[in-house]
This record gives sequence, C-alpha cells and structure tokens, in this order.
Amino acid sequence: MKNLSRDSRHHVTFRLNGVTVEGFSEPRMLLSDFLRHEVGATGTHVGCEHGVCGACTILIDGTASRSCLMLAVQADGAEIDTIEGLANADGSFGILQQAFHENFALQCGFCTPGILMSLSEFLQDNPDPSVDEIKVALSGNVCRCTSYHEIINACIDAAAALRTSKAEAR
Ligand code: FES
Ligand code: FES
Repeated sequence: MKNLSRDSRHHVTFRLNGVTVEGFSEPRMLLSDFLRHEVGATGTHVGCEHGVCGACTILIDGTASRSCLMLAVQADGAEIDTIEGLANADGSFGILQQAFHENFALQCGFCTPGILMSLSEFLQDNPDPSVDEIKVALSGNVCRCTSYHEIINACIDAAAALRTSKAEAR
C-alpha cells in the first residue's frame, strides 16, 4: 500500500559544519527543527520561532540567518554553520567560545549559540570593532539573564585573539 505520509516528505541535503548531512522533511518543516530533530544538531536553540529573539541564528552560505524563518527544503544544497562548528578539532573551545567562558558572558546559555553565530559572521567582516559596532551587531539577539557588558567584553577579547591567530598563521 502507498505510504502517503512518507511521500509528502522531501529529501534534503546540505553541508553542515563542513560535513554532508541529509534527511527527510515535510514541506512545512522549519530549518531549526530539521537541524535539531532530523540531523541531531541540538546546539541551535529555538526561542520565539518568530524571528525576534535570535536564539536560532546560524550561518547560511556565510550569512547569519534565523533558522526559524526558513524552511528546511529551502536549505537544500546550502553551506550551513552552527555552534557545533565553532569548537576546535579536538573538542576544546574555539576562540569565541573561550572568550565567552573567560568573561562570564553567559548564565543559562540559551541565547549563546545564536549570539556566537551572529558574532562569528560579524568578526569576519569587522576584525577590530568598536563597542558601538558590537552593540549594533548584537541588536538582533536577546539575552534575558546575562549583562550585555560581559558579552561585549567577550567579543572584544575574541576579536583580539582572532587577529593574533591570523597574524601567526601568516
Ligand atoms: S527562535 Fe528564531 S528568532 Fe527566536
Ligand atoms: S545567558 Fe540566559 S538568555 Fe542569555
């Protein structure tokens, strides 16, 4: 007998943190849900599901985007980066994560994956940002329990560490 529910799903494949992943998605399934429930990448958090809080922010083809405002089927063939890709190859904290750790820039951590992905894109384009520029970059990410002061300090430290790391790699 024909399996109608299975037939309504679409095969979706994309590169996630440099690795090809695939799964099946109903046409209406959000990319955030696909990442968490189909691929198992639960580092991406879902807060408002309305594009307001920024918790679900990921990079799609290098651009910070709300994964709750995009359908999984629209991501087919894309290059996606999530919080899981920020760690070093040995599992230790990457530069942004380390800076947040050292500056006590999180409490519950719910907003943190989205903030880190927003800043990940931001620091690529702004390697030596001012405090005001960081505030603008963070304006799409809501944190309800950590002072933004520590988050801004972490961003400044991460920017400095990234500049040093790039200089040493030359
Ligand atoms: S869960 Fe996507 S912006 Fe809030
Ligand atoms: S650390 Fe709790 S919401 Fe930001």
